[in-house]
Amino acid sequence: MTDTPGSKSSNASNQMWGGRFAAGPDAIMEAINASIGFDKRMAAQDIAGSRAHAAMLGATGILEPSDVDAIREGLLTVLSEIEDGSFQFSTALEDIHMNVEARLKEIIGEPAGRLHTGRSRNDQVATDFKLWVRDQLDAAESGLVALIRALLDQAEAGADWVMPGFTHLQTAQPVTWGHHMMAYVEMFGRDLSRVRDARARMNTSPLGAAALAGTSFPIDRDMTAKALGFDAPAANSLDAVSDRDFALEFLSAASICAMHLSRFAEELVIWSSAQFRFVTLSDRFSTGSSIMPQKKNPDAAELIRAKVGRIFGANTALMMVMKGLPLTYSKDMQEDKEQVFDAADNLMLALAAMTGMVADMSANRDSLAAAAGSGFSTATDLADWLVRVLGLPFRDAHHITGTLVALAESKGCDLPDLTLDEMKSAHSGITAEVFDVLGVENSVNSRTSYGGTAPAQVRSQIARWKELVA
Ligand code: ARG
Repeated sequence: MTDTPGSKSSNASNQMWGGRFAAGPDAIMEAINASIGFDKRMAAQDIAGSRAHAAMLGATGILEPSDVDAIREGLLTVLSEIEDGSFQFSTALEDIHMNVEARLKEIIGEPAGRLHTGRSRNDQVATDFKLWVRDQLDAAESGLVALIRALLDQAEAGADWVMPGFTHLQTAQPVTWGHHMMAYVEMFGRDLSRVRDARARMNTSPLGAAALAGTSFPIDRDMTAKALGFDAPAANSLDAVSDRDFALEFLSAASICAMHLSRFAEELVIWSSAQFRFVTLSDRFSTGSSIMPQKKNPDAAELIRAKVGRIFGANTALMMVMKGLPLTYSKDMQEDKEQVFDAADNLMLALAAMTGMVADMSANRDSLAAAAGSGFSTATDLADWLVRVLGLPFRDAHHITGTLVALAESKGCDLPDLTLDEMKSAHSGITAEVFDVLGVENSVNSRTSYGGTAPAQVRSQIARWKELVA
């Protein structure tokens, strides 16, 4: 900024409210006040809102048909100028609403001044922003469906591939690759349902709430609500202009989704390491090192892992903006947009990148299977066998199994490698049949309880989800 404090950015008072002002704003006032630098992203929504409002002003007889026609044509011209990049945005005109209206006046003259009848920038900005956020909820829905479909393909291909399941990142029990993929389907499925809920709840129109109290003009709020795809007009004008719950619901749903993406990204980083080799990420979603020729880095996964910070940060920031505001509009609320724009951009990018990575990655079936059998992963199956076949209390079975794990560990072998005599040293009743349950395939096949890891269970969940995202 080249202006010094106290300098005037322009001598003329504002053309929208200059009546009671003798002078224009200080340059610093103009800089802190302007939102056009970012709210130009809502140009299409602003013009859609104005077109709906103008058509309603015509239909209700508040404006002459000739004025409405001029406004409609003029707004279309403004939109095409914005789309082709020829529109000159002005910081002095503060925001997208006044930039559009001022240009409309240049194009059509006097009727432009009638467009703002029965509305205010307060209901206008709430409407524009809602329309913008609604588009993002729709985009998030599509992005989530695409990701879920990619996960379902992975799950279906490896519904019965064995791998270790972890708790504390320590080998716990064998599970299937399909089951692990389907865990993420459940998580992203909840995100999908949150996004749909938020959309259903937010879809009321603020337009016509005017500054805060409604208007004395005989406007038709149902008509504008319908024209803009809202289910109904918002029922309280004070709430309509001061509500930003819709943005907060988007940000909180986005935060939880980003947290899920981050957890999955973390697994991909671990799984693609030389120590795990559970998956091979495609070249298309990896980068190399400028110094170490052998490197193939999971950069996309790492960046996705980091995105949750800025998205959750946006949620926190907007909560803080809103938390102390008295009803109704306060200029603080202009600080609602940049964070939401940034969060939306990054969520969509993260969803797309994750979908691409999942679609392209290959699970290394042999590495998964080798790891599935290590770490005494079938110890619980052994304990369950002692309960089922020998009738031991589970606590005793747990203890006996523990001594066998310690024995195998001291010998440097896995549980199935112990001899029958060694098994019997822990409990004389053990027979050779015990070895049947020590295999990982048998272990996963046995877990047939609803939601369990048995391939039959996994396949039925895949079928259920395929229908849900068909
Ligand atoms: N640029 C403003 C915003 O984004 C528009 C609403 C201004 N309303 C007002 N009463 N100053 O919030």
